[in-house]
Amino acid sequence: MKKHFLYSLFIGFALLTTACNNSATDGYSEVSYYTFTDGELERPTGYRTWVYVGTPTTPNDMNNGKAPFPEFHNVYIDPVSYDAWKETGQWREGTILIKELVSVDSKAAASGNGYFMGNFIGLEATIKSKELFPNEPGNWAYFSFTNPGSNQLKNTAKAFATNQCNSCHDASAQDDFVFTQYYPVLREAKNIGKGVNPENSAKRQSSGNGSGMTSEGSEWDPTAPTPSDAGVDIPLEKEALFAYLNEGSYRDFATQEKEKHPSLGPHTKIGLPVKVYMNDAIANSLAENKQQHPKGSIIVKEMFDESGTLSGWAVMAKTHDDTDSGKGWFWYEVTSTTDANSIAAMGNGVTGCITCHNIGNRDMVRTSYPFQN
Ligand code: HEC
Ligand code: HEC
Repeated sequence: MKKHFLYSLFIGFALLTTACNNSATDGYSEVSYYTFTDGELERPTGYRTWVYVGTPTTPNDMNNGKAPFPEFHNVYIDPVSYDAWKETGQWREGTILIKELVSVDSKAAASGNGYFMGNFIGLEATIKSKELFPNEPGNWAYFSFTNPGSNQLKNTAKAFATNQCNSCHDASAQDDFVFTQYYPVLREAKNIGKGVNPENSAKRQSSGNGSGMTSEGSEWDPTAPTPSDAGVDIPLEKEALFAYLNEGSYRDFATQEKEKHPSLGPHTKIGLPVKVYMNDAIANSLAENKQQHPKGSIIVKEMFDESGTLSGWAVMAKTHDDTDSGKGWFWYEVTSTTDANSIAAMGNGVTGCITCHNIGNRDMVRTSYPFQN
């Protein structure tokens, strides 16, 4: 046993010192688990034999049918970066993490009710490289090979723009853009020392909240009252707003995209078409780079399904001049064009919408403006 252990250490040492540099993490940088061709990441292979770090689950049925990344996320890290993490507690140049998406299949088993893995449905990756991504915060870039509406992954992927993925990781992840708070394998390995296998320790913790995170009530409930005389030119009551959207007069707003664009957010699935309309109040305010948009600002976003048919709307309307951490915005999303009750969220200060929209400093607005098309 011991011999074998020393032997692997030796091999590891020989391999890893080929690039002998000054900092501890740099020594690992020669070994790479990915390939770029013409600036695009080739679909990583062999990752199911890397180090498995955890499986966060964001099932659609706990996210109003619209989890941005359904459902199970099996996360893997390349083995050399895992070793570097154990030794230094840092992500080496060239770290790659894979997130393989798996559907929820059965919800009952001999062991009880729950969520059980079905099929592989998507593949995402993130890479840290100063050399390749000198301008990305933390030098992390994000990729997706998932192909909505197809059962084939893409063969290559371009890095997403910073605000699409990196910013949220920057804001919320525990260890340099990686969500180690949800990966016990990485939490236990941090700085433990090269060659040590933390799983061999007999120590176990009492069940519960290792990540220090708390579970709260519904993120999709409003946290502030919606004023009835908001001074907004659209109705803010459920049935009336739904009727207004169906009737379609927002299509007269002067500022609108000429064409649909593939959604970068979770509205419908990432990649499905959306089209954005803005009234003058918000368009002028964005043009003037205002940090807070005026009361009366309205944005309507049409969402379409795979076949290009309208499938619902997302709406943001400013009911107060003061943003008040998102409570000054009215948030609404409906996932049907025939049923006014299919709402994902409705009201002022919906946490589930805000946590994602408060990225950047454009007062909760995420779409690029001026529009790309
Ligand atoms: C709103 C915040 C948010 C956005 C935006 C976001 N992520 Fe994440 N990401 C998370 C969270 C939270 C986790 C960990 C828990 C989980 O997987 O649900 C995670 C985990 C990951 C992981 C596993 C490694 C890690 O860093 O923990 C990858 C890979 C990943 N995301 C890729 C992407 C890609 C690609 C995009 C852009 C299309 C993206 N993410 C956008 C919140 C976000
Ligand atoms: C996981 C992150 C995320 C969550 C959660 C989220 N959004 Fe978005 N939203 C985005 C991104 C990213 C864009 C810009 C997407 C694009 O242009 O393709 C966007 C765009 C929008 C737009 C068009 C105007 C704008 O800000 O760009 C509206 C309206 C909107 N979202 C409403 C909502 C509502 C209502 C909710 C809650 C039910 C919500 N969003 C939840 C990420 C999110």
